[in-house]
Amino acid sequence: MKRFAIHTFGCQMNVCDSERMGDVLREAGWVEVANDSDAELVLFNTCCVRGSAEERAFGRLTLMKPWKAQRRERLLVLCGCIPQRDGSALLERFPFLDLVIGTRDYFRLPSLIERVMETGERLAVTCNIGIELPKIQAPRHPHGVTAFVNIMYGCDNFCSYCIVPFVRGREVSRSKEDILKEISQLVAEGVKEVTLLGQNVNSYHDAASGADFADLLAAVNVMPGLERIRFTTSHPRDVSEKLILAMAQLSQVCEHIHLPAQAGSDTVLARMNRGYMRGDYLALVGRLREEIPDVAITTDLMVGFPGETDDDFQETLALCREVRWDAAFMFMYSVREGTAAAQLPDDVPHEVKKARIAELINLQEEISAEKNASLVGSVCEVLIERPSSRNPHDLAGKNRGGRTVIFPGGNARIGDSVHVRVQHSTAHTLMGEIVGVEDFKAGEKSAASKEP
Ligand code: SAH
Ligand code: SF4
Ligand code: F3S
Repeated sequence: MKRFAIHTFGCQMNVCDSERMGDVLREAGWVEVANDSDAELVLFNTCCVRGSAEERAFGRLTLMKPWKAQRRERLLVLCGCIPQRDGSALLERFPFLDLVIGTRDYFRLPSLIERVMETGERLAVTCNIGIELPKIQAPRHPHGVTAFVNIMYGCDNFCSYCIVPFVRGREVSRSKEDILKEISQLVAEGVKEVTLLGQNVNSYHDAASGADFADLLAAVNVMPGLERIRFTTSHPRDVSEKLILAMAQLSQVCEHIHLPAQAGSDTVLARMNRGYMRGDYLALVGRLREEIPDVAITTDLMVGFPGETDDDFQETLALCREVRWDAAFMFMYSVREGTAAAQLPDDVPHEVKKARIAELINLQEEISAEKNASLVGSVCEVLIERPSSRNPHDLAGKNRGGRTVIFPGGNARIGDSVHVRVQHSTAHTLMGEIVGVEDFKAGEKSAASKEP
């Protein structure tokens, strides 16, 4: 029996790619197992967006040396963003590694593995990430009631700190037709919610049909059987008025937007090459809240970018207080070789970065907790995704704003949409009880989504 295990680091792109690699391998007769000790093939899908992500992947890989030494015919594969950047140098650095492949090469996995098994060669394959779309072949087999769907690959924004455009290549959109076909197939396999994925979904453009991102949302919105649509990530510079209105009007599109701000200071934003200023961001948040009263807005923030002064950092804290994001991912700047910012001195001392991130996290956690507490007493619509990890009798899902909600399951099942009255909250979770079952009507916004 051919058995494989796969470990995923990094963002949703990698989660989605790992699922696809699993599908490609299953199509070629492989069976997935949970433990490396049961596998003949182990894959690591890696991330290099920050030094810490890279160290985690390398640390985990090094632990695999004894696994490989136990049986020489076992195969160890490194995939994703680190191989796309480092290529064959990885084979020299890790002599127990058999195969490295880049970010758009997963469809070749079965044939490459076969070749390595037959010849004993060690291979590094990283295709040209110019404008070639991955050749998607195997049908998708979803793992639950929610699924990620790539609508585009790559990024052309070149934010000065970011490695992603170098490891994911130039921006290229899949055709609307392909995307709709994939979603209808996922829905036929029981998927109720899709998250449309791209590094910058707002610049989606299908050359064949002329569809932009708002048009794509409208087309997905009428897919029979699909209850919810999410998307990520939105670049603040490219959120159009048309997209805001589409979010407000389309019934299945959830009232949540992930809108990375990165920083609150105009000089820092300019050095980051973000293409908007603090005032633009605030105006956008204002428009979103005007048109979509219950909209949840989440963000990414960074501290310690080259040249960030204490005053600059105070502006990030002030932006946090002003916007009051529902949640935020917060990071310390990490130099990425080859990016424009790597030319600037990394002059904010590590201790200062640590103090700033701690202060920022404290403030944001307080805000998240207050926003969640304000939902106590309200009723929200929850798509049930899984049993709760803490108590197997409880079920967990998300409300339309993307918050995790936990409640006693009763007769409800995974895949059901229920109305839950919120009784308790923390900064990250809402707890409550079921008060009804959702009856879906395409074409109108659900009343249960309206939170006070
Ligand atoms: N396309 C998405 C995701 C980018 S990576 C977007 O634009 O939001 C996710 C987050 O990682 C970024 O938003 C940024 O906050 C952070 N990040 C990227 N490069 C980084 C670096 N060199 N150091 C620290 N954080 C970084
Ligand atoms: Fe990186 Fe900027 Fe592209 Fe996001 S938009 S992936 S931060 S270059
Ligand atoms: Fe990491 Fe690659 Fe995603 S660098 S954040 S896994 S695009």
